[in-house]
Amino acid sequence: MIRDIDHILIARGAISDRVRDLGEAITKNLTDIGDTEIALVAVMTGSLIFVADLMRHLPMKIQIQLMTASSYIGKTVRSNNDPMLGKLPDVEGMHVLLVDDILDSGKTLTRIRSELETLQPKSIQSCVLLRKKLQSAMEVPCEHVGFDIEDEFVVGYGLDYNGYYRNLPDIGVICP
Ligand code: IMP
Ligand code: MG
Repeated sequence: MIRDIDHILIARGAISDRVRDLGEAITKNLTDIGDTEIALVAVMTGSLIFVADLMRHLPMKIQIQLMTASSYIGKTVRSNNDPMLGKLPDVEGMHVLLVDDILDSGKTLTRIRSELETLQPKSIQSCVLLRKKLQSAMEVPCEHVGFDIEDEFVVGYGLDYNGYYRNLPDIGVICP
């Protein structure tokens, strides 16, 4: 697997430090709102590892809800298709923390967030581990961002190419 990786972009130590910081920022923010229970909506499958690490830095009462979304299928080139969403979680009356792996075109997070808004949650905030330095991604409302990265296709720490490389502990760029 490691032979397919051109270079490591973010090493596991830096990821884990940043995830801890994100957990602290989210906790402070929710404590300021005064509520101690949230619905954590994790967008599968890319956020699998991120959310598992992040939630262990969140000390409040959490209901985990998984939902699916897919856009890139078997390619590293952005498609113009709208993401396909699975069943929506039940978040009525809850403070929602929406967690995804990466903001790329921003379509996925924008779509999911607007669908969740219709379910009458108390509040919604979003958290992504990565955001590409693209105008479309920067314009999407997102309260918590781990790292801003260049516009290149990355894998590892949950992110895949064609279903592979999710188990790489670091975030890397695959060979062209
Ligand atoms: P968006 O809708 O274009 O923002 O795409 C978001 C989704 O596409 C993410 O949730 C990822 O699953 C996937 N994606 C976007 N960029 C990458 C990448 O560089 N590597 C792996 N998956 C990606
Ligand atoms: Mg995704």
